[in-house]
Amino acid sequence: MADGSVRISLAPDDHRGVVDRRLFGSFVEHMGRCVYTGIYEPDHPTADEAGFRGDVAELVDELAPTLVRYPGGNFVSGYDWRDGIGPVAERPRRLDLAWRSIETNQVGTDEFLRWAARRGVEPMMAVNLGTGGIVDAAQLVEYCNIPEGTFWSDRRRRNGSPSPYDVRLWCLGNEMDGPWQTGHTDAQTYGELATAAGRAMKLVDPTIELVACGSSHHHMPTFGYWESTVLEHAWDVVDYVSMHAYYQEHDGDRASFLASGAAMDRFIEDVVATVDAVAARKHSRRRLGISFDEWNVWYQSRFAGPENTAVDVSGPRIEDVYSKLDAVVVGDLLVSLLNHSDRVRVACQAQLVNVIAPILTEPGGAAWRQSIFFPMATTFTTARGRSLTARVSTPETGTARHGDVPVVAAAATHDPDSGQVALFVTNRATTETRVDVEHRAFGSWTVRSARVLAADDKGPLEGAEAAELARPVELPDVRTEDGTTTLRMPPESWAAVLVDTTAGGA
Ligand code: AHR
Repeated sequence: MADGSVRISLAPDDHRGVVDRRLFGSFVEHMGRCVYTGIYEPDHPTADEAGFRGDVAELVDELAPTLVRYPGGNFVSGYDWRDGIGPVAERPRRLDLAWRSIETNQVGTDEFLRWAARRGVEPMMAVNLGTGGIVDAAQLVEYCNIPEGTFWSDRRRRNGSPSPYDVRLWCLGNEMDGPWQTGHTDAQTYGELATAAGRAMKLVDPTIELVACGSSHHHMPTFGYWESTVLEHAWDVVDYVSMHAYYQEHDGDRASFLASGAAMDRFIEDVVATVDAVAARKHSRRRLGISFDEWNVWYQSRFAGPENTAVDVSGPRIEDVYSKLDAVVVGDLLVSLLNHSDRVRVACQAQLVNVIAPILTEPGGAAWRQSIFFPMATTFTTARGRSLTARVSTPETGTARHGDVPVVAAAATHDPDSGQVALFVTNRATTETRVDVEHRAFGSWTVRSARVLAADDKGPLEGAEAAELARPVELPDVRTEDGTTTLRMPPESWAAVLVDTTAGGA
């Protein structure tokens, strides 16, 4: 990779608007051990009266996601939400086709929504448009959001929730472009169904916001065509289009993996171009939002697929153990999301516990942070206010999968009320890179902390103690002089710099 110095210029008035706090979301799916022995384990010593693990809740609070998507994922495309309400002892055990697991329905809509309320996170619900239809979707909105006096709202009240949950954000199905999806269909058919279901849902509650399924990945053969066709139908009904993407190191190609954030940039920019083309055709000035409602590092090539998994209660174990390198890439993906926060208004790292997750648990035992927890928690808790346009002057480096990409990526936020700036920088080079951050326009500038996470060759960090090695450490030798702060970024690293300024900004 290339060497050389890099400049980042920041100014309080050069921004793309306030970052929607919904950008810092996560995802709970009925998949593997995300729910059962993940967030929920009634026999666990730390379980609360509702059966949810207290040790996991503490880590979730520390991670501080603002939003959690539920209940899938592929799972939702065969799920009847009615199976998961009412007396627990009477709920059916169902065969879940997505993951070939047995769904015991001990946790359903009420249990999840109450857990989300206790954790102070906004719920984002998905409806089944695979085997389910318009009525199922509309009735779930009625169950959740109508105060009382109708069949489903009164059922909710009888089930122990007198007040409506007031769920604002709803996904119209999941990955309906994917041949693996139960009920997968073509763009036109999905576009018509999503429009009809969305209309009915908004007739139940006109204040909800709807997310249409976009492509499951940039590389889907129908990418672009899918978004245009769906939105030609659903334009007037939906508020967001979704994106999903998972990244991994392929065949030892570390440079391409380190450039995942650049690949995410391009994917987002392609989706923006595609949805804006629909707007132009419709003579609409509306700039549709994006819900990047599944993103992460996931070593998908190690997963043999649900079809090769024996049916049992917990389904396939997709419990990737992450390395420091993976954590650097996750930090870089967050940089990409922040840099597109004018269009990406919602994002969910997938998934919250055990399944490709920042938190791992042992059934009946401990819960701990994985390496990717650290950049997530740092970004979620410190990125505040406006997304600054970080003007980065950097050399590029060639990668096999993504062509030339910037050596350094950076994103920054500025809270005009407190004056705090949070700067996030990724060095994709295999060498140390000097980064000069120019911030004269801020006036006073005091670096409060600068912490760095550098990759190594050690591979996955198994267990709680090893994973702690990925906790960011102080970045040495940070100097501020003449309106410029110099960072010496170690090879393959991600850093978070918190700064106190006196700047307000327009
Ligand atoms: O997050 C795991 C799975 O990945 C989800 O169920 C699906 O939507 C995606 O393919």
